[in-house]
Amino acid sequence: MNKSEAIKLLSSIGQEHVLKYYDELSEESRDSLLSQIEETDFSVLSRLNGTHSDVRGEFSPLAAMQISEIEKRREEFYKAGIETIRQGKTAALLLAGGMGTRLGADCPKGVFNIGVTKPLYIFECLINNLLSVVKETDTWIRLFVMTSEKNHNATVSFFKEKNFFGYREDKVVFFKQNMAPACDFNGKLYMEAKDRISTSPNGNAGWYSSMVRAGLDKILEDEGIEWINIFAVDNVLQRICDPCFIGATVLADVSVGSKVVRKAAPDEKVGVMCLEDGRPSIVEYYELSDEMMNAKDANGDPAYNYGVILNYLFKVSELESVADDKMPMHVVKKKIPYINENGDPVEPEEPNGFKFEQLVLDMIRQLSSCLPYEVIRENEFAPIKNLTGVDSVDTARELLKKNGVEI
Ligand code: UTP
Repeated sequence: MNKSEAIKLLSSIGQEHVLKYYDELSEESRDSLLSQIEETDFSVLSRLNGTHSDVRGEFSPLAAMQISEIEKRREEFYKAGIETIRQGKTAALLLAGGMGTRLGADCPKGVFNIGVTKPLYIFECLINNLLSVVKETDTWIRLFVMTSEKNHNATVSFFKEKNFFGYREDKVVFFKQNMAPACDFNGKLYMEAKDRISTSPNGNAGWYSSMVRAGLDKILEDEGIEWINIFAVDNVLQRICDPCFIGATVLADVSVGSKVVRKAAPDEKVGVMCLEDGRPSIVEYYELSDEMMNAKDANGDPAYNYGVILNYLFKVSELESVADDKMPMHVVKKKIPYINENGDPVEPEEPNGFKFEQLVLDMIRQLSSCLPYEVIRENEFAPIKNLTGVDSVDTARELLKKNGVEI
């Protein structure tokens, strides 16, 4: 794209200010800005004009497969899961494209050291968890790692420096998540530098479209991968490619399996698995009415009782139906660093604009069936969102110790 093409494009969407500093930039910076303009999907800005709505359908409960049932069928599930893994039909996908702003560390979240008596990095915990399944099944599992433009180089070099924590390097593929531009409350794009539009990763559901854009669907096809276990970077206790979970999902013949935990309290701030207009979905904690919070199932247990932990097993053949253009884009108020009219960088203290994100819940909503699969919270859920307090480095350390992990 050349300058006049950029002017034409930007003026058609009222964003000419993006080129304000163009004439004072070096040749290299000009090229970099022009290629960013060319690659950016500005259509997300149209979500601001009120045509898109987040109105939800009618919620009803979706029963989870509970631990008591899993225990009864453990052998059957385990056998089916081990077989699926040994046949190379399962891959793991680490969602590490987030900004980790709450943790406030100046590094990718996975690089954070949570060790006490020895170094123990978040990435290391996750790889150790996956390695235990590799050993159990005697099968190397394909691992995709989604980074973002902001943390890609730091993530890849960290894995290299640490020799992939014992994982087979040729089994790991890194790819960058697509970015979305960020704007102020009036829809004007922010600039994070004179030669860069402010952008952020396009949400935790951006993984499939980003994978396709990186051409990685070819690996899925070539290697006959039928299931992808996506998981968050920050839950250091989670089991990845857990054979029983895989077996239960495969045997249930559903589009997606979702690990869930029993809620700690009816008003816990966690998304809950449910049906929405008869399709699998997730109701956010702030959308739960009092009536839903108090609703009971046939056994007298709370009907909306199973929280999601961002560990899903997706059936690859159904992912077509969650292609990018079919997914809603959410407009979220966030703090967006930018340069002011004098060209000086500003780190806002309060939300100052909108970011655009696709959410996993919308992926689930596109699919026809889902198995919520209960896991024991204390054994599999230790998210690290904050430095201290709830869901923090402190709480995760305690849980790791309880589970016999040397920290
Ligand atoms: P969170 O929603 O906790 O966001 O991500 P975050 O960016 O890590 O942290 P905060 O909110 O800025 O403090 C849940 C999971 O989804 C991934 C994160 O890396 C984490 O594994 N994620 C989130 C992405 O991969 N891309 C995104 O655009 C957003």
